[in-house]
Amino acid sequence: MRILGIETSCDETSASVVDDGQVLLSNVIASSIDLHKEFGGVVPEIAARSHIESMMPVIKESLEVAKTNWEGIDAIAVTQGPGLGGSLLVGVMTARTLAITKNKPLYAINHVAAHPFATFLTETTLPDYKLPSQTLRFPMLALIVSGGHSQLVLYEHAGQYKVLGRTQDDAVGEAFDKVAKILGLPYPGGPSVGEAATDGDPEAYALPKARLQGKYDFSFSGLKTAVLRALQKDIGRDFTFPSKDLAGLLSKAQKANMAASFQHIATETLVDKAALACQEYKPTSFVVAGGVAASPELRKQLKEKLPLEPIYTDMKLCTDNGAMIATAAYHQIQAGLQPVDPYTLDISPSLSM
Ligand code: KG4
Ligand code: ZN
Repeated sequence: MRILGIETSCDETSASVVDDGQVLLSNVIASSIDLHKEFGGVVPEIAARSHIESMMPVIKESLEVAKTNWEGIDAIAVTQGPGLGGSLLVGVMTARTLAITKNKPLYAINHVAAHPFATFLTETTLPDYKLPSQTLRFPMLALIVSGGHSQLVLYEHAGQYKVLGRTQDDAVGEAFDKVAKILGLPYPGGPSVGEAATDGDPEAYALPKARLQGKYDFSFSGLKTAVLRALQKDIGRDFTFPSKDLAGLLSKAQKANMAASFQHIATETLVDKAALACQEYKPTSFVVAGGVAASPELRKQLKEKLPLEPIYTDMKLCTDNGAMIATAAYHQIQAGLQPVDPYTLDISPSLSM
């Protein structure tokens, strides 16, 4: 079964073709990230406008790269939510129109639940993709960590999962982005904080870990505020001193030390909870999905503390992409997912798992 997956939940317009939830034939991604850089975060209106411009060329290229045409496509899968309303609308309206005009079944996919499925791709006709060699087995524990999500999910099988814990406020990638802004480092914050941290002392600042009711839940908003307060204190200003003016007064060493301290504690929170879930649920495989999976610090700590080897896929499949949508659709169809009505499918910006 060959599925075209369409993803437009945030700032990436993507269309990908996947065979039988395993073979990646194309993965075309147009990102509007450069347009958002000067604002330090994604601007929804700019993202939506970019999706409109890129959507059809991206789909056309995706079919070309996959060396197929509409005859060769068996179904269309699209991200229904969660995500930015205007962005989701472009993908969903496009998918609905194509499903009707090309007469294909249409599947609505939850973006967050789909992230780990990118790891199910083990073969490709594309150059420059490093895919996992082993096929995933259930029960599978997934740590989904990106700019929009932080959750630990246990998949009993492709169609059945249990959210063990999720963030109560900011996603971990979002916390990286906000701390980068405080430190005057470029967006996206994950890589820039990570780079600054290489010269810093992770124990320079004692930052707090949130205590939460749910033992697998996360909270990163307090940590971000603690970063701000510690730096305001450092430079001898009171807490009313605007955070946007702070970076100019910090030395390179202060920035490096705070980047390292923040990164260490934020990562440790993720890793400790993943390790605890491994102990309790004894999953057969463990995957890390989402943009933060690129973090060398996260990979280092997971290697040290987890009883089983984490499975990572190519970075181009960790960040948002259509292939994870097509792959999730295939495996969920095998588990009983039904097509939706292309005349009525609506977006669901706050869809939860
Ligand atoms: O999955 P993704 O591309 O988009 C969302 O769905 O959010 O994730 C983007 C997030 C950003 O917050 C970015 O700061 C973070 O992933 N990120 C990283 C790294 N590379 C990207 N975080 C930590 N370390 C990295 N190397
Ligand atoms: Zn995502």
